[in-house]
Amino acid sequence: MGGLTYFDFLAKFGVGGAHPGGILLTKEILASENISNKSYVLDAGCGTGQTAAYLYHQYQANVTGIEINPIMIKKAKRRFQEQKIPINLMEGSIEKIPLPDQSFDFILSESVLAFVDKPKALREFFRVLKKGGRLIANEMTINKRLSQHQETEIKNFYALDSLLVEEDWRKLLVDIGFQDIELKKENQALSNGYHTPEFQFSKNFEPELFDIFNQHASIVLKYQDTLSYRVITCTKM
Ligand SMILES: C[S@@+](CC[C@H](N)C(=O)[O-])C[C@H]1O[C@@H](n2cnc3c(N)ncnc32)[C@H](O)[C@@H]1O
Repeated sequence: MGGLTYFDFLAKFGVGGAHPGGILLTKEILASENISNKSYVLDAGCGTGQTAAYLYHQYQANVTGIEINPIMIKKAKRRFQEQKIPINLMEGSIEKIPLPDQSFDFILSESVLAFVDKPKALREFFRVLKKGGRLIANEMTINKRLSQHQETEIKNFYALDSLLVEEDWRKLLVDIGFQDIELKKENQALSNGYHTPEFQFSKNFEPELFDIFNQHASIVLKYQDTLSYRVITCTKM
């Protein structure tokens, strides 16, 4: 496979809304938050920038996107230029956010935290959130513990360092100092896929990326009773 990963697939296919529930669930979640044109919002791991653009169009919020993958950055930049919207886009890691403390009212992490060093990124989120700021995340969560062999299969494919159940997420957030923590299980199963797909294909991509997509689909199906996600919200008091 030449070392190609699930993220190479997402980046080269330019998958927008690459999180469970897609942009429709994003809109629903954001609608219950108090976002306005005064809000400073960080889209952490913004991918091709679909949610960041929505945050500007819907709320005229002050939006920053941070993303580690250069192909994603290019596609997000193209989107923002075409739509002539003033999104501050930065290439970098959410594990070391190059911004001052207390910069944001909201941080959105749509299927990003699960793939990084979670305590490190969460400490950064806590640091750059203002007092009263909200973290909104949509993250891979298992409904119950799997056997070691099964967990290894999932972790290897998605390059995860850990696979969390609800209580693991809660403990991490409590340890870092977040309060008002809620974890919500949505009705939409992971195996329904991205039901509002959007693609920005690269001109050239490796045919092996189709294999990666198939492996993803078969893992999601194989573990459909266990491999799930939660919408996580919490506050820095
Ligand atoms: C599953 S995708 C989700 C993208 C976007 N949030 C969305 O919903 O469409 C995960 C994204 O996180 C990015 N990512 C992974 N590790 C990162 C890190 N340490 N810092 C910033 N972005 C990261 C990947 O490049 C990818 O674009």
